[in-house]
Amino acid sequence: MASVLAVTSVLPTTMLHAEPKSESPAAWSHQEASKIERDSSNTAPLIEKEEIEQMAPNHWVWDTWPLRNKDGSVAKVNGYKVIFALTAPDDVLPGKRHDIATIRYFYSKNGQDWKMGGEAFDPEQAYGSRQWAGSAMVEDGKIHLFYTATGRKGEDGITYEQRLALANGEMSVSKDGISFSDWSHDIILEPQGEYYQTEEQSEGGILYSFRDPWYFEDPKTGEEYITFEGNSAGHASEQTCQPRNIGDEQYQGSTEVSNEASAYNGNVGLAKLDSEDYTEWETLPPVLEADCVNQQLERPHFVMKGNQYYLFVDSHKFTFSPGIEGPDGLYGFTADSLYGNYEPLNESGLVVANPEDNPFQAYSWIVLPNGNVISFVNYIDLGDVSLKEVGAQPVDFQYEHFGGTLAPTLKLSIHKDETRIVNELQYGKVN
Ligand code: FRU
Repeated sequence: MASVLAVTSVLPTTMLHAEPKSESPAAWSHQEASKIERDSSNTAPLIEKEEIEQMAPNHWVWDTWPLRNKDGSVAKVNGYKVIFALTAPDDVLPGKRHDIATIRYFYSKNGQDWKMGGEAFDPEQAYGSRQWAGSAMVEDGKIHLFYTATGRKGEDGITYEQRLALANGEMSVSKDGISFSDWSHDIILEPQGEYYQTEEQSEGGILYSFRDPWYFEDPKTGEEYITFEGNSAGHASEQTCQPRNIGDEQYQGSTEVSNEASAYNGNVGLAKLDSEDYTEWETLPPVLEADCVNQQLERPHFVMKGNQYYLFVDSHKFTFSPGIEGPDGLYGFTADSLYGNYEPLNESGLVVANPEDNPFQAYSWIVLPNGNVISFVNYIDLGDVSLKEVGAQPVDFQYEHFGGTLAPTLKLSIHKDETRIVNELQYGKVN
């Protein structure tokens, strides 16, 4: 006993905890985002309509995540890789799919030819009137599937309340493939209005979010977290732009930021594990905010390279605040600690942009630990120039051009605070 105490007392205990910043979170500033520009290092190759093959019979597939090990690596269980995805029958208009999203799983031995396994769990047993994106981790045959519980069971009309949920279950592999059983569901996090806006505080403003939980074990501390998409807390009508959200003094002096910008308040949230069964989490302050810059920092996830933390998010052209031109794309930031001073990659944050000629061709990019980036084929080949010009979300009359399947995987090189797309791999390749 004495020797155990002796050992622990010499451990640098302060190193074992990533302390949240007491002041304000790192900010993606207006100044940084104003540098966003498509170029050859960040523009994805054009997706040709003729090449696209539906991966799931009779289903749209969009936000996708691989089954991972605790350390973030893509899991291989008895030779199988598994992915989970939001899905909906493909006889509904694509815009309707969010209202009926169901999590299905696919498995494959080569990480490319995916066989649809079915619903991950019975949606009737899950929280929410439908389930939105999340992440999945396997540990000793037990699976922990984090998801967004959107709306409530039995609601009269469709509602947009979002809570973070977890399904714990068992995974079995047989000669017939993969199956899951014995699920138990818990709500693990709801916004309290202190760090993350509640739906009521959002006052019905631009697109509310509290969603997309992504499991992350910090290799520097061994501590376990979920990161998620949120909005900065407080009543929408009382929000103001702070100097840190704008930029340096010179930029503040020389740039007129529109009054409407203060309504934009996307952030990246964090919660720390507080129980062995993954059902208790302590809400922590955000790691990044985009107040006055962007409303939605979607599907946040961390990738480690060397000693650096890389935080990636997806965002849309139409969620940037007025005056900032950013494409539908993958954006990234880096810091040397979990609560570090995140700097945008490539100075502006832009990592992968859809090409100008096909500005909505893909979405929901996720960077795997080896730098490969998966996403799904969204709206392609719009053919309607006026829509491209206004930058609005495509509407359903283009539904015949919705992809609804995994896009070609992109290979990214990441070097310090710079990235570059270096290759395009097969459709839906997960390695
Ligand atoms: C991004 C997203 C996610 C959400 C899902 C709902 O594609 O907005 O944030 O979980 O779509 O369909």
